[in-house]
Amino acid sequence: MTVKQKVWVSRPLFPEVLAKLSEHLDVQAEAIERKHTPEQLRERLRQVDGAVIGLGDRVDAAVLEGNERLRVIANLAVGYNNFDLPAMTRAGVLACNTPDVLNETVADYAWALMLAASRRIGAAERWLRAGQWSNQQRFDDWLGVDVHGKTLGILGMGRIGQAIARRAAGFDMRVLYHNRSRLPEPIERECRATLVGKDELLKQADHLILVLPYSKASHHAIGAAELALMKRTAVLVNVARGGIVDEVALAAALREGRLGAAGLDVFEGEPAVHPDLLALDNALLSPHIASASEDTRRAMASLAADNVLAALGYGPHAGRPATPLNPEVMARWSRR
Ligand code: DGY
Repeated sequence: MTVKQKVWVSRPLFPEVLAKLSEHLDVQAEAIERKHTPEQLRERLRQVDGAVIGLGDRVDAAVLEGNERLRVIANLAVGYNNFDLPAMTRAGVLACNTPDVLNETVADYAWALMLAASRRIGAAERWLRAGQWSNQQRFDDWLGVDVHGKTLGILGMGRIGQAIARRAAGFDMRVLYHNRSRLPEPIERECRATLVGKDELLKQADHLILVLPYSKASHHAIGAAELALMKRTAVLVNVARGGIVDEVALAAALREGRLGAAGLDVFEGEPAVHPDLLALDNALLSPHIASASEDTRRAMASLAADNVLAALGYGPHAGRPATPLNPEVMARWSRR
């Protein structure tokens, strides 16, 4: 009897996904959600050939040190700021993420936050539930800002940014974007989007959605100076990573009426949320759920599992994982 290769799944996952892995692999799946310390992560990863992990699990050189066995780690996310990719490549560990399957769902959610923050839905609902709705409600209470007909700014125009832009046509919005590189013209046309400089984007946007990847370069890409360029009525939405925004500066701008509202799905210290933000009614906050639709979370988990199976030589894509981040490491495996 051949001994199955081992895979560790660091978070509870859909049964059908675990079953798919179990067809070929010996699966050790965590039954409860918890944060693993670097030591726990290191220990778990030393005992397996592959792993499916979440954003809370940080993989760096220290975690991989001395690990001769591990071949692949699949992230349950498109963003992979929890990976030290050069360290994984040096260690010969294939890194995979979950692009594309979540584009439309995250775009829907960015719109949901933009609409809800603009029209003060979170605060209005809290007020209603608190029993404050009465005959004294004024005609000019609960005034928000319109979305239709306004200028939508998108910072980071990858595939999620493009999906957000395409939705703007239905709201008759002008779309401006800023990105490292200009999109090919047919895509710009399809998105009806115009490339502008970052300052111009900040100045002109009535609604600004952040969708850029998080890295050292994008840390606090929106800080006090950037917020100062924005319109006093502007609405800021972040579905990317918390560290892109200086939360203290954002909270001050919202509190002092220098910015209209914010819709935030991501935070610098997740799961902790800065108390200054928690205190504000014009900050609409959610617990990093932009990709959390039934279909999409299942698709992300399934893609992560397929990547592990393919990397370890199983399934229809054996030897050809669909979404590798450092495919060059696979060529070195035979020499290990
Ligand atoms: C991602 O995939 O990077 C999302 O932030 C996770 O929901």
